[in-house]
Amino acid sequence: MATQNGLPTHVGIIMDGNGRWAKRRGLPRKMGHRAGANAFKTIARYANKIGLRYLTAYVFSTENWKRPKDEVDSIVALLRSYLDEMDGYRKENIRVLFIGDRTAFDADIQAKMARAEENSKNATGLTLILAINYGGRAEIARAARRIAEDAKAGKISPDAVDESLFSQYLYTAGIPDVDLLIRPSGEYRLSNFLLWQTAYAEYVFMSGVLWPDFKPETLDEALAEYRSRSRRFGGLDDGDS
Ligand code: FPP
Repeated sequence: MATQNGLPTHVGIIMDGNGRWAKRRGLPRKMGHRAGANAFKTIARYANKIGLRYLTAYVFSTENWKRPKDEVDSIVALLRSYLDEMDGYRKENIRVLFIGDRTAFDADIQAKMARAEENSKNATGLTLILAINYGGRAEIARAARRIAEDAKAGKISPDAVDESLFSQYLYTAGIPDVDLLIRPSGEYRLSNFLLWQTAYAEYVFMSGVLWPDFKPETLDEALAEYRSRSRRFGGLDDGDS
């Protein structure tokens, strides 16, 4: 769903390349994640400033637990301190949401997430969505499980299960589908990110930039590329018929 000013309504970003950014500088990987977290904060503010409605970022996947413990710990520590900074988002009119299985995190982190969501729930600017312990397949399986439970309990009839109802059982219930998916760093994969929600998204792969170097101008480039594409949703272009 594109808006009238040509901006996509919902942008998804796979923040890739932190490790390589650090390696090129002879730094430990955790320094790459720290630089990546800073880049993310800058992009979130900028997205709000230009009037973007939804921005979802892949912060931590269900597969990321397989990384060495000190690297996982460093990402969790960044998340913890960022959650404290989020109190300021209310002033900036940014609404924060988290998608994924948050129960895997320590109780204090879960409480901070709930607080950030509660504090910002009336904001009318950007909705900033952080995917944490998130996996697209896990999300779809969870939705199917919850639908089966509701059907078993007699709350819904199996005949009522269509795409629209299914969407309401995803973490992203009520959030429009992704229009533009951006992945920097030269990997050309979706990596289990928003599988359902990107069905008709435009993909912009930016091989020349690693996530910590991603700047507002880089987002502008991706938005310009998006505007240059014609979206058909399986139909024909206007004028082709
Ligand atoms: C990919 O880079 C990035 C991640 C797995 C995690 C993303 C995390 C951050 C941007 C930092 C935390 C952010 C917040 C908002 C708290 P990679 O490590 O896969 O890079 P590589 O492919 O070069 O090794």
